Amino acid sequence: QEIEGDVEDYEKGGYEHYLRKEIADQPQAVAGTLRGRLDERFATAHLGGIELSARDLRTIRRVKILGCGSAYYSGIVGAELIESLARLPADAEPASEFRYRNPVIDPDTLYLAVSQSGETFDTLAAVHEVQRKGGRVLGVVNVVGSSIARACEGGIYLHAGPEVSVASTKAFNASVVAFALLALHLGRVRDLSPADGKRLITGLERLPDQIATVLEDEEVVRQAAQRFADAPSAFYIGRVRGYPIALEGAQKLKELSYVHAEAYPASELKHGPLALISPEMPTVVIAPDDHLIDKNRSAMEQIKARGGPVVAVGHSPFAGLADETLIVPKNEPELDSVLLGVPLQLLAYHASMLLGRDVDQPRNLAKSVTVE
Ligand code: G6P
Repeated sequence: QEIEGDVEDYEKGGYEHYLRKEIADQPQAVAGTLRGRLDERFATAHLGGIELSARDLRTIRRVKILGCGSAYYSGIVGAELIESLARLPADAEPASEFRYRNPVIDPDTLYLAVSQSGETFDTLAAVHEVQRKGGRVLGVVNVVGSSIARACEGGIYLHAGPEVSVASTKAFNASVVAFALLALHLGRVRDLSPADGKRLITGLERLPDQIATVLEDEEVVRQAAQRFADAPSAFYIGRVRGYPIALEGAQKLKELSYVHAEAYPASELKHGPLALISPEMPTVVIAPDDHLIDKNRSAMEQIKARGGPVVAVGHSPFAGLADETLIVPKNEPELDSVLLGVPLQLLAYHASMLLGRDVDQPRNLAKSVTVE
């Protein structure tokens, strides 16, 4: 059967841009990462690419996640998931920095290299640095058989489908979900209870439909985007789990619209950024309905008091505090990050459209950075 139109139109699935199509792909991308990996009976995750026994996994004392760009930001989310669910100290570091600082490699640390393409030069170099010093690295990679996937001693494939647009969207969330699976698995060989394991499994299973729900409500995001298209610069703030979402949201705005954006922990507002708040400077506040909601409200109050426009992302409207609230469905607190980030992808996309930017091929950027 012949397909009308060119291959590119076909691959864009009816959307004008790959980026928008890949945002829309996220329910299937996340479902791909989860497929066949949830074990309801033992309330854990099966990860066939990790050939470490429960006994091996119990010898791990620390987790270090390495990646670049959005992959690195997904690693910050992942480190928090691993630390909170498996109670293992975990952190993320840009692979590009790690490889040049003569890092101490600890045999009891599990190193994870996260990369959509599996070809990012600095991430591959970080893998080699760990291995040269006798460390153990697993990959969290989308492209099967890529250089990083081959260099690692196993790992987790994202199975998110191809990502063509330069800026990462679906691979970011698929990576977060892969880290959630790993956190569940590591947690269940340690002290995570079966009840908590089941709670997370139910939450993970709900994610694809909930992402689809977020994507249905594009109009309010389109309106909010106008503020950012008109602004010289923007702040993105969040606390703890909200902070890497702020980092990734700001990154999306920069890459796609070329509007300057900076992410800050909301808790640091008073230590500098407040000086810049003005009616010209919009702030995105990541404010899920969790134990930090009052702190986030007070950040909004401080911004409002200085005339700064506020766009909140959360679970219910912030009447009188936020000019717009981008509302997402609630999941388990550990998994809310996936949903909170989706409207920010759309926000950056619409700001880019309003400014007439090349959303799939932003200037000066490459999809996979295979040189230093
Ligand atoms: C480039 C891309 C980013 C991506 C980063 C890491 O900078 O523009 O979107 O997050 O590389 O790529 P990787 O393939 O390793 O995830």
